[in-house]
Amino acid sequence: MNQATSQQTKPRKILITSALPYANGPIHLGHMVEYIQTDIWARFQRLRGNSCIYAWADDAHGTPIMLRAQQEGIEPQELIDKMKAEHQQDFDDFFISYDNFHSTHSEENKHFSEQIYLAAKAKGNISTNTIKQAYDPEANMFLPDRFIKGECPKCGTADQYGDNCENCGATYSTTEVVNPYSVVTGATPIEKDSEHHFFKVSDYADFLKNWVNSGAVQKEIANKMNEWLDDGLNDWDISRDAPYWGFKIPGTVDKYFYVWLDAPIGYIASFKNYCDRPDVDVNFDEYWKTDENGENNDTELYHFIGKDIAYFHTLFWPAVLKSADMRLPTGVFCHGFLNVNGQKMSKSRGTFIQARVFLDHLPAEPLRYYYAAKLSNTVDDIDLNLKDFQQRINSDLVGKVVNIASRCAGFITKKFDGKLSANLADEALYEKFTEASDSIAEAYESRRYSKAMREIMALADLANQYVDEKEPWVLAKDENRQQEVQDICSQGINMFRAIITYLKPVMPELAKKSETFLNAGELTWTSVSEPLFGTEITKFKALMTRIEEDKIEGMLAANKILLNEAAVLQGGNKKAETEVSDENKESDPISSTIEFDDFAKIDLRIVKIVNAEHVEGADKLLQLTLDLGEEKGQRNVFAGIKSAYEPEELIGKMTVMVANLAPRKMRFGMSEGMVLAAGPGGKDIYVLNPDDGAVPGMRVK
Ligand code: MSP
Ligand code: ZN
Repeated sequence: MNQATSQQTKPRKILITSALPYANGPIHLGHMVEYIQTDIWARFQRLRGNSCIYAWADDAHGTPIMLRAQQEGIEPQELIDKMKAEHQQDFDDFFISYDNFHSTHSEENKHFSEQIYLAAKAKGNISTNTIKQAYDPEANMFLPDRFIKGECPKCGTADQYGDNCENCGATYSTTEVVNPYSVVTGATPIEKDSEHHFFKVSDYADFLKNWVNSGAVQKEIANKMNEWLDDGLNDWDISRDAPYWGFKIPGTVDKYFYVWLDAPIGYIASFKNYCDRPDVDVNFDEYWKTDENGENNDTELYHFIGKDIAYFHTLFWPAVLKSADMRLPTGVFCHGFLNVNGQKMSKSRGTFIQARVFLDHLPAEPLRYYYAAKLSNTVDDIDLNLKDFQQRINSDLVGKVVNIASRCAGFITKKFDGKLSANLADEALYEKFTEASDSIAEAYESRRYSKAMREIMALADLANQYVDEKEPWVLAKDENRQQEVQDICSQGINMFRAIITYLKPVMPELAKKSETFLNAGELTWTSVSEPLFGTEITKFKALMTRIEEDKIEGMLAANKILLNEAAVLQGGNKKAETEVSDENKESDPISSTIEFDDFAKIDLRIVKIVNAEHVEGADKLLQLTLDLGEEKGQRNVFAGIKSAYEPEELIGKMTVMVANLAPRKMRFGMSEGMVLAAGPGGKDIYVLNPDDGAVPGMRVK
């Protein structure tokens, strides 16, 4: 059955989710691809008269969150509360119409996680095994791969993550890293045994082989899953040792659920939390009960996710649900990644754009439209080209859509007291607008938003052509043709109204302002087949303004400043110089923002580079002798700026250093501070070169 175009007899009952953002980082425009995609679908379903509940949460557990809270000197609870409030504000300002946003660190989630684990255990799907793992003997904790760094075993580059080298691209296991150190304390990790709990995914191999071909996942993902299944499934390690920020595993003293076990269960928990709200009358069981076949055909459940987490959602998650005898998702909708200006989002290029920075400079709805115009139901990546973004908004939305209303409204208001004609001037033309309904609905339903936007813009072209041809501004001067003017402009306004109705899932604010302007109630999908006759519109006010280039530039500049501050304060962290696809995945706990007090602790001083030399055996380092003036004397510092300078170029130059950084022992000797330089990296690193008035030792304010 084609659910979108079939006659809507009984409203569908749909529950949808987006992937839960990690609670240790800000929302960026990559996340927003998913949340806007989900929201458009939710709004579309509601506009069609279906029930669509959108419930999700922050993903609040795991090592990075625990360590970040430690670093900020606060309890994890305080950190996740703060992040949750920030995340929700971002979502609200992007008009994400979720029904509930909860946290995975909640009573409900604890309850369901335990229930599901115990059900799996009772079925014999949990095993235990002792494994060796890297351990930080100073922090007394096991270290995830991302928390071990060292020299690449292949090319020798320093400061590489425990699983891959950013210089030569090699991948390896953490045990192969040369001179490994813990990101947490700098200590050399040791190996330690520990007992882990595993979910035996292979018990569900046959079930998964069936499920993958049931149509619940896209072809591309199904193909990938088939590969995984053919390769054979390993048992999934679902436990972590204390100290860990998460839920304790029932029946153990110091084992916790791995964050990825309880994260998807957070979908259920958030929905439960929603159902329990006093103002909500939704029956939890109706959505989660199963019939004798283990199915639930009364309600639909869909997860919107990015392709990087398909493995968790199309293998582990259905297997875990099956094990607990719970319903399965009706579908998992997977999307691709966001690129900016044709390249991976990158900190060095300044294109790792935070949602808040965008909102500070630009309105939210144009981005919703732009994403819609790019999104399809495939896992292809989409590109945010900022120049194209500006042009597209100005030509499609301002130039085409809003233009129709602004060209017609004035005549209706001035000449006819706002009253629309009693019939359509060109019924055949209007029929094209009603006829488009099914095709546009089907495009939304199947997440081919770009197709929907194309069809809507084709209608806008028709409407503009009509007004162009009829030239009501010419007729308006002729006393005998006033009726024609009213009819033409009424036709125009009805066509505008149809376009806004179709755009409503994407542009909720524009739709709201248009509803006020049209003054004839709320637009629903069927409004298009009931054009306005003889009703009164209100005075036309600008519905949208053009996007100017300086706004985009201002946004990028502000974002760059934010990223550079973070990079400098991360102490020359490699990630500032390289591509980062997802900084929150078990990444450095070093935070992107700091409190003022932390900033005030940094003693920045002007220094003179009195000597600079190559370092034998180092690819990136130069050894600098820095003069801090009479009082403080000289310092020896190793700086990773070899790619940008010959040592002799530097001698005699001034720069800024962090003078109170604790000395750090490096392979080549002691480094007593850090010089600050700016630039994206490689050859483009700039040593600051203050004006003549600068004196070594001078404090930088
Ligand atoms: N916490 C996990 C999800 C748990 S769901 C039970 C996680 N969080 S995340 O913050 O890293 O990502 C959240 C969602 O945003 C994921 O679906 C991810 O694919 C998506 N995106 C993150 N960066 C993205 C882009 N650059 N582009 C498009 N989507 C991206 O994974
Ligand atoms: Zn390497």
